[in-house]
Amino acid sequence: MDSGVAATAYLVNESRARLPDLAGDPTAMHWIPEPERPTVRGLWDEYAEAVYPYDDLVVSLRGRLIRDTLARRLERDPATVLVVCGAGFSAYPWLLPVSAALEVDLPEMVAAKRRRAGELTAAGLLDERDVTHLGVDLDDPDARRDLLTYARDWAAGRPVAYVAEGLVFYLSERSAREVIGLGRALGAGLDLVSYWPADTADNAVLAAQRAWFRTRNVPDDASYLTMGEISGILGRPVTNHSPEDVQRRYLGEVRVPEAKLVPEHVAVAGA
Ligand SMILES: C[S@@+](CC[C@H](N)C(=O)[O-])C[C@H]1O[C@@H](n2cnc3c(N)ncnc32)[C@H](O)[C@@H]1O
Repeated sequence: MDSGVAATAYLVNESRARLPDLAGDPTAMHWIPEPERPTVRGLWDEYAEAVYPYDDLVVSLRGRLIRDTLARRLERDPATVLVVCGAGFSAYPWLLPVSAALEVDLPEMVAAKRRRAGELTAAGLLDERDVTHLGVDLDDPDARRDLLTYARDWAAGRPVAYVAEGLVFYLSERSAREVIGLGRALGAGLDLVSYWPADTADNAVLAAQRAWFRTRNVPDDASYLTMGEISGILGRPVTNHSPEDVQRRYLGEVRVPEAKLVPEHVAVAGA
C-alpha cells in the first residue's frame, strides 16, 4: 500500500478525503479501511513535505471537473456507461446515476477496490451499482488488446464515457497513447484524460516528485503529451483544463500558480 505505483491510488484518495466537498466525493473518506488510514495519512504528510503541499487541491479539482462533466453527459444521455482506466479509489459509478461501469486497474489494486466496494455496499455507505472490476496491466500490449475485446462486448452498443485520470504519465509513451485511444476504439461519446503537458517536463514539483517516487519504488519515468497529440489520438478537438482553469472555475480565483503544482491538465473531447 505504501510503495509501488498502486501507492499513488492511496495518496490521491487521501487528497480527496481531505477536501471532500471540493472534490464532490463524500465517499472518499470511506475507501481506505480505518486501520490503514494512519499509514496513508503519514504517507501523504511525507509526500506533502518532500514534494508539494497542494495535492489535495489538484486532485480534488481534477476529480470535480470530471464528475461534473460526466454528470452533464448522464443528464443528456442516461444510458451512458462508464469505462474508467486506472480507476484506483475513484468513485464515479457511486457518485452518479450510472447504470453500469467497467473499472480497470492493476490486479492488486482491483482486488483491494472490489473487496472494499463490497464492504461499503454491505454497510450501506455505497449504493448498489453494477461495477465490473478488471485487473489489467495497461502497459502490456496483449492485455490491452484483450481489454478492448472485453470492453466492446461489455458495452454491447451502449453509449460510453471514457475516463483515464491520473494514469497515462505512469505508462510508457506508446502505452500512454494507446490507453488514451481506448475510448475512441470503443466509440466513446465523451473522453476525459488527465496528462502532463510536454512543456512541463522541467516543472520543479515534478522533479521533487521523481526523487520521492524513487524512495517508494514508484517508477519515475513519465510520459508527457501535447494537447495536439491528444486531439490527434482522439480524432477530434479537445478542450483543455489546466490546474489554474479549474481553480478559477471552482474557487473563483487562482490560489496557487501552476508552477507550484503538479501540472496535471484534463483534456475533454465530446462534451
Ligand atoms: C494516481 S492513481 C489515480 C487513481 C484514480 N484514477 C484516481 O484519480 O483516484 C494511478 C492509478 O493508475 C494505476 N496504474 C498505474 N500503472 C498502471 C498499469 N500499468 N496498468 C493499470 N493501472 C495502472 C495505479 O494502480 C493507480 O490506481
